[in-house]
Amino acid sequence: MKKKKMTTAFGKPVGDDLNSQTAGEKGPVLVQDMHLLEKLAHFDRERIPERVVHAKGAGAYGYFEVTADVTKYTKAAFLSEVGKKTDLFVRFSTVGGEKGSADAERDPRGFAIKFYTEEGNYDMVGNNTPVFFIRDPMKFPDFIHTQKRNPATNLKDPDMFWDFLSLTPESIHQVTILFSDRGTPITFRHMNGYSSHTYKWYNEKGEYVWVQYHFKTDQGSKTMTAAEAGAMCAKDPDHATRDLHESIKNGDFPSWTLEMQILTPRQAKDFKWDIFDITKVWPHSEVPPITVGKMVLNRNPENYFAEVEQAAFTPGNLVPGIGASPDKMLQGRMFSYHDTHLHRLGTNYQLIPVNMPKNAPELNYQRDGAMRVDDGGGGGPNYWPNSFGTAGPDETALEPPLPIEGNAAQHSYKLVDDDFVQAGNLYRNVMSEQDRVNLTRNIIGHLSGAQKRIQLRQAAIFYKTDKDYGTRIAKGLELDLAKVEKLANMNQADRVKATAS
Ligand code: NDP
Ligand code: HEM
Repeated sequence: MKKKKMTTAFGKPVGDDLNSQTAGEKGPVLVQDMHLLEKLAHFDRERIPERVVHAKGAGAYGYFEVTADVTKYTKAAFLSEVGKKTDLFVRFSTVGGEKGSADAERDPRGFAIKFYTEEGNYDMVGNNTPVFFIRDPMKFPDFIHTQKRNPATNLKDPDMFWDFLSLTPESIHQVTILFSDRGTPITFRHMNGYSSHTYKWYNEKGEYVWVQYHFKTDQGSKTMTAAEAGAMCAKDPDHATRDLHESIKNGDFPSWTLEMQILTPRQAKDFKWDIFDITKVWPHSEVPPITVGKMVLNRNPENYFAEVEQAAFTPGNLVPGIGASPDKMLQGRMFSYHDTHLHRLGTNYQLIPVNMPKNAPELNYQRDGAMRVDDGGGGGPNYWPNSFGTAGPDETALEPPLPIEGNAAQHSYKLVDDDFVQAGNLYRNVMSEQDRVNLTRNIIGHLSGAQKRIQLRQAAIFYKTDKDYGTRIAKGLELDLAKVEKLANMNQADRVKATAS
């Protein structure tokens, strides 16, 4: 084979890549050494901003296969036929840690899928939990600040963490899942993925239903105890990244079964739970999931930076047949992701191959900008309407209208006792005694780092969720149980006042 020759970024052959050009044997180095200058300048710019959340992750390619006829619910082309396969890219991640943090940390896990459909890219940007800590996007930046580092010490801070959560009691459902062993899945392959939000599916006739996605792991849901996870953080901070890569390399392709929960608008109207509140699930007994398809991951990326670090998902990437719901958090996310990609990757990030709509090439009149590396529309018209017969809008891609009414205002969710019911059901009815022992031990270990008044406020929330739950936490933290019970019986405003300082 002919030996390939090294070149500069602009293709000039490189004569020496080991020694800088110097004036005389001992230097100094000459500015005319363009290869050296180019090499150092490029190195200086190797890093792009890390994701503000979900910075540590691993990705893989695969496909989705439809296994049930869902055409009465959605006209999405990629879901139009049993047996139809669509290429996809997945990125799994932790949330709060930096790019070098350990895969085994207690955290929700991101579960983001990019389907390369013939009607454009469809992104399902979910987590491994069916609910979330908050339900209004206004709270997201504050919430994330409390999960990251203290501004003074640059350390993780139990006071910030529990102060915010105890002032945000709608977080209790997600907190209970996070501190159970589901907060430390054994690998990315052994966890479920959920849309968490409600989305809309609509069919050819314009009829719509509300849906939630559940990608159930075919590997079985497996978790680590806190002790096992702690040991894993020390032994191999990249264990889940390694596991995903190696299992695919060895031909052991992980897969997930997609189950959907579906509610008609009429069912949704009379439903016990607010279907747009992301802190709630739809109980399986009331909305039994139906199996719809299968996702298989079978190919590793070749270059981590190009394909995984530069991958850009947004819940706003929807295709005809799939729409957003009024869920306030989802609406906030529909702004945030595209916006952060413009900052993290640049104006034309859709041209990065992993993000390209490869089965439905971009055709519009958006032009130019930094790194417009294709022909930018060539010499064709750069405006619409035009009378030169170029691409125009297609009415059939319009979404059916959704009636909305009410006053424009900053409406708050009413803080109601309902917020504690599902977390209580999880604790009482789903968890085994061993799960409850592990859960309460994990909470006590973390909450013990916070101030006593914050411990009391949060213990009262556990007590309100379930007496046994709160009692175990109070005992483990050596709190006055009578005080915890009294706080649990107050409304949130009085509880906050009583634990103000
Ligand atoms: P079901 O008894 O029908 O289902 C229980 C669900 O809980 C299963 O999906 C199971 O997942 C999951 N699960 C088991 N252990 C944990 C854990 N430690 N943390 C989180 N999830 C766990 O219950 P319901 O539908 O009536 O819901 C009861 C509670 O179960 C809910 O309040 C919610 O906390 C939890 N749950 C409900 C889901 C839903 O969409 N209805 C989804 C996930 C959790 P798996 O199948 O993988 O074992
Ligand atoms: C990543 C914002 C809630 C799942 C991100 C990123 C931002 C963000 C800015 C970084 C994206 C990037 O740089 O590529 C928000 C906001 C939220 C919110 C503002 C609430 C208002 C959620 C929820 C979920 C979720 C509820 C899950 C249901 C993810 C995932 C990623 C991510 C999986 C990583 C995507 C990847 O792998 O590249 N989020 N988020 N987020 N978020 Fe959220």
